[in-house]
Amino acid sequence: MGGWVEYAQDIQQAGADALELNIYWIPTDPELSGAEVEAQYLEILKQVKAQVTIPVAVKLSPFFSNTANMAKRLCEAGADALVLFNRFYQPDIDIEALEVRPQLLLSTPQALRLPLHWIGILYGRIPADLAATSGIHNAQDVVRGLMAGAAVTQIVAALLRHGIDHLRSIERDLENWLAEHEYASVSQLRGTMSQQNCPDPSQFERVQYMKTLQTYHPFWLTHEENVKGHV
Ligand SMILES: Cc1cc2nc3c(=O)[nH]c(=O)nc-3n(C[C@H](O)[C@H](O)[C@H](O)COP(=O)(O)O)c2cc1C
Repeated sequence: MGGWVEYAQDIQQAGADALELNIYWIPTDPELSGAEVEAQYLEILKQVKAQVTIPVAVKLSPFFSNTANMAKRLCEAGADALVLFNRFYQPDIDIEALEVRPQLLLSTPQALRLPLHWIGILYGRIPADLAATSGIHNAQDVVRGLMAGAAVTQIVAALLRHGIDHLRSIERDLENWLAEHEYASVSQLRGTMSQQNCPDPSQFERVQYMKTLQTYHPFWLTHEENVKGHV
């Protein structure tokens, strides 16, 4: 715990405008309860907040029993922003060499669904700003994140794949998209498709599961056949 607090002070003194506190922790002890894990998150945050005056964002795990409750309690403990979500290390098994190996797998576009879902649910319900991370690969993904309610979208995998210049093309595509759709700024988009503001809030919940299944089309159909509703 000491390290978090000391580094936070050093970072502020070095001139940072804000701090992202990545609580990268994969609890594996069966004796450790969920409540204890949650208490630890809150304790780390409180201690860091007590040492710095700059805004503190918390990058958190998607694995809480009730993410919305945890988000609310992190806000009460002083979080100025939440970064959704940490993408935890998941080792692979090499079945020939019989080894458990770290192997970096960059995110796919599907990874965006998890932060999109929770940002959409949390937007307008908690006072913290929200940042989306995982699966933001292009300008359309940035628009999705903003519409769900993100104030910020973060990009790593796409830059590793395409190089740093990809940022320029995302920015250009975003500007074009906003102009084509007659938005004056990104803030006009923010939260427009959150659970609170979207046309059908129930789409954010699992009660739509049967409906979701009905929208599934086998991948070998062409786009036109899918649109016509062939199954
Ligand atoms: C090579 C690599 C290094 C990373 N290092 C960090 C890190 O030091 N701290 C952190 O919070 N996240 C780190 N991440 C996670 C990213 O910040 C991000 O949450 C994750 O890659 C998902 O976003 P993406 O789909 O845009 O890649 C790293 C990711 C990659 C691929």
